[in-house]
Formats: sequence, structure tokens, C-alpha cells
Amino acid sequence: MRRNPRLLIANKISQALSDKNVSVTDTVAKHLTLNLGKSDGTIYFSLPLRSKFYDIRADAPKLINSKSDEFLENVIPSDNSEKLHFIVHREHFIKGLLDSLYHKVVPPDFLCRKQENIVVEFSSPNIAKPFHIGHLRSTIIGNCIANIHNFMNCDVRKINYLGDWGTQFGFVQLGLSLIPSSNVSLQNDPIHTLYNAYVQASAKAEKDPTLADKARNIFESMEKGDEDALSQWTSIREHTIEELKNTYSRLNVNFDEYEWESMYRMEKISGLISELERQRIVKVDSEGKKIIVLSDKKSVPIVKSDGSSLYISRDIAAAMERYKKFKFDRMYYVVDNGQTQHFMNLINILELMKLPWANKLMHIKFGKVRGMSTRKGTAIFLKDILDETRNVMKEKQIQSPNTKVQLDCEHPSTEILGLSAVVINDLKYRRTQDYQFDWNKALDIKGDTGVKLQYTHSRLKSIETYSEVVAATECDPSLLTGSIVDDLTHMIGKFDEAIMNSHQELEPNILVNYLFKLSHVLGSAIKCLKVKGEPMSVASQRLYLFIVARNILAKGMQLVGLTPLDQM
Ligand code: ARG
Repeated sequence: MRRNPRLLIANKISQALSDKNVSVTDTVAKHLTLNLGKSDGTIYFSLPLRSKFYDIRADAPKLINSKSDEFLENVIPSDNSEKLHFIVHREHFIKGLLDSLYHKVVPPDFLCRKQENIVVEFSSPNIAKPFHIGHLRSTIIGNCIANIHNFMNCDVRKINYLGDWGTQFGFVQLGLSLIPSSNVSLQNDPIHTLYNAYVQASAKAEKDPTLADKARNIFESMEKGDEDALSQWTSIREHTIEELKNTYSRLNVNFDEYEWESMYRMEKISGLISELERQRIVKVDSEGKKIIVLSDKKSVPIVKSDGSSLYISRDIAAAMERYKKFKFDRMYYVVDNGQTQHFMNLINILELMKLPWANKLMHIKFGKVRGMSTRKGTAIFLKDILDETRNVMKEKQIQSPNTKVQLDCEHPSTEILGLSAVVINDLKYRRTQDYQFDWNKALDIKGDTGVKLQYTHSRLKSIETYSEVVAATECDPSLLTGSIVDDLTHMIGKFDEAIMNSHQELEPNILVNYLFKLSHVLGSAIKCLKVKGEPMSVASQRLYLFIVARNILAKGMQLVGLTPLDQM
């Protein structure tokens, strides 16, 4: 197998610097950007002479005098002399790149030498409450971030931390006791049933305050470990998780662990609280709440005056438990912007407790989505959104003259297309940005959408299937001519950068934008580089190129969370 061109150049540079240290080569490789000269079509890697990690300005003359070889043509400084451009021989570049990616798309070594231990907590809905759009965003973003780390050889644990604890669950249990036949509907439709129970109990409690007390009492007895209240709760959770797993499998998402907030209820964390009291980190305030003082102006309650636990106390305990279990190098919480203060407090408290791993926690935040409901404006449940997307997609496929699959039965492509639309529509925006959801934009086949990516993938697949050409077994770049080949190989060569930058900034949007660009170039390449009916030598090389491009597109789509379609 051929070496990745970026690594070849990085190697050459580190040799010129007379430093054959692997980490130097890796650092160089990470700072190289691939470019294609607009006017003359030269292909070159640029390296800044100075970064946060190194300063090689003094070495510039030595690098400029690097001996050229079959791979490196020339080295020239950029106009402002802040970078060096390493111009590569076109044919060697194309061959090295395509041959290294034809059989399998793996990230180059320099991206995955550190096998970090990563915990990603994402999705984390609350049971008995709608799985709202924020949870959907967390699921989509968290899944992609986990996939990218996984691709880069990290040891990734995906945790779903379900909210099943807090006073509102007293209301849910009360509500269930008020609704006749709620047991039956719990089996069939747990999420709606629990939600209705909550809504009904809270409405009734507004009129009758004794009911509110009753709900609080139920929760208090749960908090104290009352067997009856808890056993019912356990079975309620089981129904919910079944339905959630169903939804996650539609989303193509799975978790290594399901955790519950109730695992860290008062009964379980009282030892921790006493320890904090002993260390004088916790004080009791004038209302009887236990608080942690973070600064003159800020204190955070961690036990209510009635002795029950709080969201933050459960998070402290959960973080400690996870560190004990996984010894993570980093733990990400993929949760909306609204909880920024909460996670700041959490990290500050762990620092105050002098836990050396407190700085390994990170809140990956994201903005709000406005206007996502079904066309009738009703749905708040994820399942409804997914059903709606599938239905809209099906209508579109039926109307489209390009549809190739038979849609008379429930065709899986419809579900996959709908999901692709929702996922890409979300990752199209930088995660911290708020956006307005629009069905037409999300499902458009022409714009930058999930449907468009699927369409490009299935066109490539059909070239492979129907062109009656056998792909070459190795790249012969002399047969791959024309500026569109340069455009496409340049894009293929930038895949590493897209992965690296997405990973560094924990930003799936970078990868998605890359996939849009790749699909634009592919759109033109498919038109210009005919395969069927061309002389066999050229056709088999073009097919080889398209197979590599499809491998990259498919890998990128999978990392984002899509299942690439062969036909639609
Ligand atoms: N269940 C919470 C909510 O919906 C999100 C949980 C976030 N994770 C955490 N460790 N606090 O608001």
C-alpha cells in the first residue's frame, strides 16, 4: 500500500530539519494544508513557519533548498513569507493518494497515535417528558463526535444519562394513579402515557394544593428508598428504555451504557455529602440547604432543605463514579447552551474538591432550534418527527421521476433518506448557532442537504454497477487527465484535514461542509469523466478514481451518522 502523500511530505520536512522524531513528523503533518493553484493547477502543501507548537523560521532557507525528488518538485515561500509551499509532482501525488485509499479508508497514522480514553455523554433525555429537539441535537452531535474519535482509534464510551429523578417524578407517579388503565397504556405507549400522567397531575395540583403535597411526598419516599415507590419506578423505566432503544436504532445510534440519575439519589450519595462536610467544602445555609461556596458571590445548593438530592449533586457523584470506572482522558457532556452555568459549577466544584481530573471534563454546547414540529404543528416527540420526515420523503420520492426503487412497500430508503435530511440539516450549522427548522430546506435535493449526499452516493454506486467496466487494480495517473481530476483528487486529499479539524474543534459541521464540497466536485466529475463507452484503459482508471471518491464520501457519511444508500 502506498504512503499517504501528506505523511511523505511531513517526513521529508522533518528529515530536512534533521529531526527524525516521530512527534515532529506528526506535528508537521497536522499543520500541512493541501492546496490547488487556481491559475496553474499546481498541487502543493502549505506549512506555516510558526504556530503555537513550533517556530521554524530559522530553518526556512534549509527547507527551501530541500532536494527535489520524484515526489517533491519545489519549495517556495508564500507571498508574505509566513508559510512555505511544498509543490508536489501531480502524478505521484494522485497515485500515492488514490492507492492509499482504494481498499480502505483509514485515518493516517499521525491522527491516531494517541489512543485516548474518551467518554461521551449525549442524548440524555428525561423520561416522562418529551424527547425535545435539544435532545435530538445532542444525539446527532454527540454521535458524530463519538464516531470521529472512534475512527481515530480512541477508546470511546458512549453514555446516555437519563433523567428519571426529581420532584416531577412524584407527579408522574401520582398522575398514573389518577388515570384508569394507565398500566395497559404504559406497556403500549410508555412515553406518551408518562407524559400525559405528568401533565394531568400538574394540572390537577394547580387547583388542589394537597395533590402537590402528595406528589412531593411520593418523591420523598422514593428518595428515601421506599421499596414500593421504587419498584413501580423501575418497571416504568424499563418500558421507557425499550421505546427509546427503538428510536435510537432508527437514528442509527447506540450506547455503551445507560445511566440513570436515580443511580445517584440521596441514599447513594450521602457518604459523599458527609465527606464534603468533613472537608468543610459544604456548609448549611440559613434555610437549611447544604451549599458549596464557590466565590464571594456564588454558592451552589447541593442538598435541598428537605434532604433531597439535586441535579448538580447527582452530577458530581456520576462524574466521580465514571472516573473510577473509566479513568478517562476526557469526558464530554453534549448538552445545550442553557446548561453552561451548570457545567461550569460542576467543574468548579470538582476542582475545589482537588480532584486532579477535574480539567478533563468538557461541556460541548449547542444552540437552539426553532420551529421544529410536524406540519400540523403538533409533534413534540422524536418518534413523531421521524415518522413525519419519513412520510414527507415518501411523497417526494413518489413524485420524483428519478426514483429508481419500488415504493409500494415500506421501503427502507425512505426512512434512511428522511433521517439523512434531519441529521444533515442539523449539522449544517455550527453547533453553537441557533437555527430555524424548515421542512422544505431540509428535504431539498438540490441544495446542501442529506438527500443530496445520498443522491451523490447512489449515483456513484450505479456507475460502479451499470457501467460494465472493471476498475483498474492500481492507479495510472497518466490516464487521469483534465482539471476536474485535479479538483476531485484535491478534495479527496483534504479528507484528513476535515477529520482533523472536526476533531480538534469538536465540530461536526466542518466534516459536513467538507462532504458538501466533495459532492459538488463529484457532481461535475460524474458529468465530465464518462466511464461507460470510453476506451477500457481510461474507463477503468476513472472508475478507480470514483471508487476512491465513493469510499471517502461513504466514510464521511457514516461518521456523521448516515447509512449511505446504494439506490434511491
Ligand atoms: N436530562 C437533562 C436534561 O434534559 C440533561 C442531562 C445532561 N447531562 C448531565 N450529566 N447533566 O436537561
